[in-house]
Amino acid sequence: MAKVSIIGAGMTGASTAVWLAGREIADLVLVDIVEGVPQGKALDLYEATPILGKDVEVVGSNGYEATAGSDIVVITAGMPRKPGMSRDDLLTTNAEIVGKAATETLKYSPEAVYVILTNPLDTMAYMTLKVTGLPPHRVVGQAGVLDSARMRAFVAMETGISVENIQCYVMGGHGDEMVPLTRHSNIAGIPLRDYLPADTLAAIVERTRKGGGEIVNLLKTSAYYAPGAAVAQMVEAILKDKHLIVPAAAYMQGQYGLTDMYFGVPVVLGRNGVERILEYELDEDERQQLEKSAAAVRETHEALKRLMHLE
Ligand code: APR
Repeated sequence: MAKVSIIGAGMTGASTAVWLAGREIADLVLVDIVEGVPQGKALDLYEATPILGKDVEVVGSNGYEATAGSDIVVITAGMPRKPGMSRDDLLTTNAEIVGKAATETLKYSPEAVYVILTNPLDTMAYMTLKVTGLPPHRVVGQAGVLDSARMRAFVAMETGISVENIQCYVMGGHGDEMVPLTRHSNIAGIPLRDYLPADTLAAIVERTRKGGGEIVNLLKTSAYYAPGAAVAQMVEAILKDKHLIVPAAAYMQGQYGLTDMYFGVPVVLGRNGVERILEYELDEDERQQLEKSAAAVRETHEALKRLMHLE
């Protein structure tokens, strides 16, 4: 059985573990700094496995030794948002936490692929790459699967059509400047732009961009079910070497005219992580939106570099 370690056993970490246990694709390790929490959640989840009929081990720990030999390390440790906060407001606190989680786990799992969930997502993925020195294909950030799922959910609510028929693609940074690609999104092959009136589609785009904030305002903390499900899908794609195309935060090396930054783009996910970045053909408007989103991500990357004295 493959092994997946989840660092941060809070809401998103635990939700990820629940979705993964249901897929029966890996033994799971939960790590958190709070004593008793990873152990308690791991035991509770393991006690659910007879009911689920899934044979996976679930272990909780306050140390990193238990993560040894992981195929995948998922990092969710850090602060979630409170109402009124942007994801970027979390930078100072979360940079230190994610940096430590990345370097400590790498000592025990030098072959692991890293999936990052902690916000500000693109910048936390960038930092993981820099502090670990890993090749870029082994560090990927989860954001686009979630943002696209939100858009798909909103389209389903509006149309009453099955979520399975609805394909949406959201590119760009995981912030309010993200770029829902209405031209590339469709319902059973019918372009969304043909299916929905322009004002309805514009409202869905806006709600998608603010989808995270909508949950924060309701819950007073960040979302966890859908982010956890998104990570689980990415983990499965990697472990099963599926060559699944998903939008995800990847290290840019010239694609879309961007370099040395993490950004949400369509990637092919397989056993080695990011196998390839796909380049959509974009029109002028989409290109401009993408540039605006990239500028916002770059700004947070720069703040991180100042904070962590990265070159
Ligand atoms: N090492 C391990 N775990 C840590 C550390 C650390 N250095 N610092 C904090 N944690 C743990 C906390 O103890 C907590 O259990 O990270 C967990 C975070 O859980 P929550 O507070 O429930 O936050 P969550 O909703 O899971 O969000 C975590 O993911 O989606 C993003 O924006 C979200 O950045 C946030 C992160």
